[in-house]
This record gives sequence, C-alpha cells and structure tokens, in this order.
Amino acid sequence: MSAFRLQPIQIGPLRVEWPVFLAPMAGYTDGAFRSLCLEQGCGAVVTEMVSAQGLVRDHERTGHYLDTWGEEHPLGAQIYGSDPGAMAAAAAKIAALKKFDFLDVNAGCPMPKIRNRGDGAGLMRDPAKLAEIVRQVKAAVAGALPVTVKTRIGWCVDTINVLETTAGVEAAGADAIFLHGRVAAVRHSGPADWNLIAEVKRARKVPVIGNGGVKTAEDVFRMVRETGVDGVMLGRVALGQPWLFRDIRDWAAGRAPRGPTVDEVRETIREHLRREMELMARRGKKELKLGAELTACLVLRPHLVRYLRGFREFGALARTLEERVDAATLLERVDAVLASGRKGESPENSRGSAS
Ligand SMILES: Cc1cc2nc3c(=O)[nH]c(=O)nc-3n(C[C@H](O)[C@H](O)[C@H](O)COP(=O)(O)O)c2cc1C
Repeated sequence: MSAFRLQPIQIGPLRVEWPVFLAPMAGYTDGAFRSLCLEQGCGAVVTEMVSAQGLVRDHERTGHYLDTWGEEHPLGAQIYGSDPGAMAAAAAKIAALKKFDFLDVNAGCPMPKIRNRGDGAGLMRDPAKLAEIVRQVKAAVAGALPVTVKTRIGWCVDTINVLETTAGVEAAGADAIFLHGRVAAVRHSGPADWNLIAEVKRARKVPVIGNGGVKTAEDVFRMVRETGVDGVMLGRVALGQPWLFRDIRDWAAGRAPRGPTVDEVRETIREHLRREMELMARRGKKELKLGAELTACLVLRPHLVRYLRGFREFGALARTLEERVDAATLLERVDAVLASGRKGESPENSRGSAS
C-alpha cells in the first residue's frame, strides 16, 4: 500500500523511532489528547505553546501548559517569546523539570497579539534575532535537551525568507526544523507549499519535518515521497480522530486503514473526558472557579465538535455546548448523537461499523 517506510530520525541525542508528530495546537494538545494520540501510534508530541515570560515570572496558569497526563514520550515543550534572555531562562526551567525530550521554539504563530509584538511568526521578520534566541536557548539547556524550531515559509507571499531563517537557526545549533508550508498572513487557510518544504529539506543538514495540508493517512507518505522530508507533523486533521495515527501505521504496514467504530468513538470521548478531569483535579481548588468536572467538560467542548460533527444529530448537541453541564449529562448527550448514526449511513449500520 505505502511505497515508503518512514525511517527513525535523530534530533540531537533524541532518536524518534516513528517520525509522525502531533503538531502543537493551543486549546487542544494538552496531556489528555496527546496521550490518546501516542497510544494510537503517534510518534512524538509537543505541548501547546507556552509563554516564556509567563514561565520566567512563575505564572501558575502558564505552568499548567506543561502539565502531562501520564508518561508521554517523546514529548517536546514549545515556548514562545522574542526576548532571547527570557527564552533562555524559560528553556532552563523546562530542562530542570526533566520530563521533556526536546524543546521547541515557536517561530510561526500568526495570531496578531503574538506576532505584532515580535513573538511567534514575528521572529521570521528578524532572522538574526531568531538565530540569537536559538543560540541562547541551546546554551541555557546545555545539552540536556535538543532544541528545535517550528516555523513557516515566510511572513507573507512577498517576503518568503525560509531559506535564510532556517540557515540561521541551523548555524545557531537547532537540532531539527518543523516547517509549516504556509505564510503567516494566511494563518491556516489555503494549500501548503510542499515544493518549498522540499527545497528547505534539500538545503538543510538537520532533520526537516514537514507540516501543513496533510488530510489523510496516505498524505503522510505522499509528503515524504514528494518532498523528501525526514518526518511529518499533523495538525488539524488529527483533532477528533486520534485513531488516525493507527491508520497511518496500518497504511505503512500495507493494511487498509480501519477508521473507528462508533463504539470506539464513544470510548475515546469517555476516556478523553476522564483524563481531562484527572488533569483538572490536580489543580488547586482556588484556581478552578467551576471545579474540576465542569472545567473538564468545558475543555472537552472543542474536541467534541471534532469527534462528532460527522453524526446526524450533532447540530442538536452543538446548540447546547455553551451550557455548563456535568460529565454525566454531557455524556448522555454524546450518546444521543452517536445513536443518531453517521451522516450518509443508516443508524443501524453505523452503530458498530468502521467509518
Ligand atoms: C487551533 C490551532 C492552534 C494552534 N496552536 C499552535 C501552537 O500552539 N504552536 C504552534 O507552533 N502552532 C500552532 N498551530 C499550528 C499547527 O501546529 C500547524 O502548524 C497548522 O495547523 C498547520 O498544519 P495542518 O495543516 O496539518 O493543520 C495551531 C493551529 C491551530 C489550528
């Protein structure tokens, strides 16, 4: 089925056996979701982006972005910021936690409040500063963690400078590059430029992991074939379908991807909520105004949209998602949606069948 097997890659001292990564996604890739993806066969995961300034100032809330649900490996911590000293100090704090396998510098976030102060994608407009950040972060972690950079092909179509930015971070000591094939100006819309990803791959010595526009298990291998990248990072396509990582392994092994049964979707949602509740229960009571259970239900909301939007009665649930309900009520509503069956299939047929 697949023409390519993915080879293990080396990110500094870290060997990633199966270089299929879950992309960092703010609001989604917390320990609960990451651990589900790893169990399904994802090769490595990354935290949501974490503010370096928040870490340096010991903001309690910021620290929670580094929470893990269980043993999650390989796991990267991603930091954002534009002050090299603060980035280095944050990196040293993360290294001291001894629970991460690599440290990633965000040089691609296009959200205005981030990029306009020079953080995230803003760093692409200042390649020298980006390289300086990598240099200082490397020195701060002193070999304890490999350092990677996640970036884009440029700020906008007229200023595509990815060859320059990636040459700079490589010279500064970056151990791998995650490259999203879109410019910051389009954020996440439109096609990703895989030709440019291929060009960067050819130009760099460190591993280049391609990102952007993967929509199916087969696309993972198409991206490797068409660009020569050392690994692939999946973003939105993985939301609401952690079993995609199992499908990718199946595809590589020449087995037809199975997709999830409705029972698997139900069990995954229940387990996901259980893990969110566990994560929340570890927080101090003062921190969670609504308590662990209600907060976990709220955190699960955007995931539910992804898990369930292919089901007939999803609209009914979507209209009630703003309500604050306990776990039992939420799961009853989820069951009702699942019982309605997948669009395009009879409810009877879709009950236990693969999608
Ligand atoms: C909701 C959302 C949150 C994201 N948060 C982050 C983030 O915290 N750090 C980061 O480097 N990229 C972030 N991204 C970008 C993704 O990591 C990825 O680069 C992007 O979605 C393109 O990949 P895709 O086409 O496979 O979705 C985010 C994307 C989305 C949709």
